[in-house]
Amino acid sequence: MTQDELKQLVAREALKHVVEDAVVGVGSGSTVNFFIDALAGIKGRIEGTVAASETSAARLKKHGIRVFDLNSVDELPVYVDGADEVNEHLYMVKGGGGALTREKIIAAVAKRFVCICDASKLVGVLGKFPLPVEVIPMARGHVGRELRKLGGHPELREGFKTDNGNLVIDCHGLVITDPPRLEADLNNIAGAVTNGLFARRPADLLLLGEAGGVRALSARKA
Ligand code: 5RP
Repeated sequence: MTQDELKQLVAREALKHVVEDAVVGVGSGSTVNFFIDALAGIKGRIEGTVAASETSAARLKKHGIRVFDLNSVDELPVYVDGADEVNEHLYMVKGGGGALTREKIIAAVAKRFVCICDASKLVGVLGKFPLPVEVIPMARGHVGRELRKLGGHPELREGFKTDNGNLVIDCHGLVITDPPRLEADLNNIAGAVTNGLFARRPADLLLLGEAGGVRALSARKA
């Protein structure tokens, strides 16, 4: 099976976790695009969605699926999103597409986070994928220096602006042995809006697309 076929497989499997007559949280990225396309097939059975990026919102609307402002939503039973890396504790590195801040906000609101990935995303130790950090433009230099102090090699994502009008620094070379701790340390850097570590609010379920089918993994206790 190709990587896209694996992504499509987990995207379809995620439909089983969608709660009927409720609002669904929808992340962003290529795997989520397959989920959005699959969701279109059951759009009459959900109230609507909230979206983590303008790109996802546009795709949902193209399918005739309602997209709500998160502020108008009281309850979000399920959030479905991909990841750039995920480990056995269902801690993730996210933000490859630059939507990390809105993704983290929706994940915080959701009761249940279902992560959908192809098998290549499951890793032993997080950090091979450069860790994205969304940054207020005037803090770019300061955040870069702080990331260097933590042992990282920051690189500005050239020509990229987030949906919130900010910049993204991709931090290479971090060996992330204590993800919740590093997430908190990065949260403390002035001018860093969000970092792509999702450890304090990990996924609740991982649907992993493998050659033999979909494997469902719950978090192993840290
Ligand atoms: C975007 C994300 C995506 O979930 C992550 O980049 C995975 O994307 P893909 O499904 O295309 O591999 O965090 O900000």
